[in-house]
Amino acid sequence: MELIGRGREADVYAVDGDRVLRRFRNGGPAEDAEDEARLLRWLAAQGYPVPVVHDVAGTDLVMERLHGPTMSEALRSRPWRAPAYGALLGRLHQELHGLPDPGWLPGLPGGDGGDARVLHLDLHPENVIITDRGPRVIDWSTCRVGRPEVDVAMTFVILRGIVLRPHERLLIRGFLRAMARTCGTDRRPGMPVATERRLEDPHLTEAEAALVRRLGRPYA
Ligand SMILES: Nc1ncnc2c1ncn2[C@@H]1O[C@H](COP(=O)(O)OP(=O)(O)O)[C@@H](O)[C@H]1O
Ligand SMILES: [Mg+2]
Repeated sequence: MELIGRGREADVYAVDGDRVLRRFRNGGPAEDAEDEARLLRWLAAQGYPVPVVHDVAGTDLVMERLHGPTMSEALRSRPWRAPAYGALLGRLHQELHGLPDPGWLPGLPGGDGGDARVLHLDLHPENVIITDRGPRVIDWSTCRVGRPEVDVAMTFVILRGIVLRPHERLLIRGFLRAMARTCGTDRRPGMPVATERRLEDPHLTEAEAALVRRLGRPYA
C-alpha cells in the first residue's frame, strides 16, 4: 500500500482509488480508531463534511479516499484566493460549533461545562481537502467539547505561529481576517488556552514557540 500521509500518531495509506487506511502507530489503544470512527459517523449524520467511514478494526480505520488538494496546497497554487479560503475555513468553524454536544466526547481540561460545543482544535489548511464536491475536514484526533473561541484561537495561533516569509505573512493575515468575519466567534477570549495548548506541542521549534508566546500576551 502506498503511504500518503504520516502524522503524529497515525500513518495514512491508499488502499485503492476509493479508500484510505489510517493506522494508529505505537500499538496505540484500539479505542483511538474506534473513537475516531464513531465521531466521523456522528459528524456525517449531522451533515458535517467529513470522509465516509467504511470499516474499523483494531487500530485501523478505513475511510473514503478524498481526491483534491489540501487547502494548504490550494493556497500555494492560488495565493490570490487566500481571503476566499479563509472565509471557507471560518464557515467550517461556524458550522461545527453550531452542532449539539453529542454527550460522549471528552471536554477540554478546565472547561466549566458551560458552553460545550464540538471543537476540532487542529482546524488548519492541511486538514481540509478541497474535493470537487466541496471541502472535507479530516484529522479529528484532537476533537473535544468546549468553548468555540478556543477552536478559532487555535487556528489563529497555529497559522501565526509559523515562521513565514514576508509575502506569506501578508497572505496568512488576509486569510485570518476573512476567517474572523465568517467564523461567528471572537477568538480573543480563547487565546490564553490556545497558546498554552500550542506550547505543549513537543514538535514546535524554538522560533515557533517564541512567536506563539508573543501571541499569548494580552491584546496580541
Ligand atoms: N480520507 C482521506 N483521503 C485522502 N487523503 C487523506 C485522507 N485522510 C488523510 N489523508 C492524507 O493524509 C495526511 C495525513 O492525515 P491526517 O489525518 O491529517 O493525519 P496527521 O496530520 O496526524 O498526519 C493528510 O494531510 C492527507 O494528505
Ligand atoms: Mg493532519
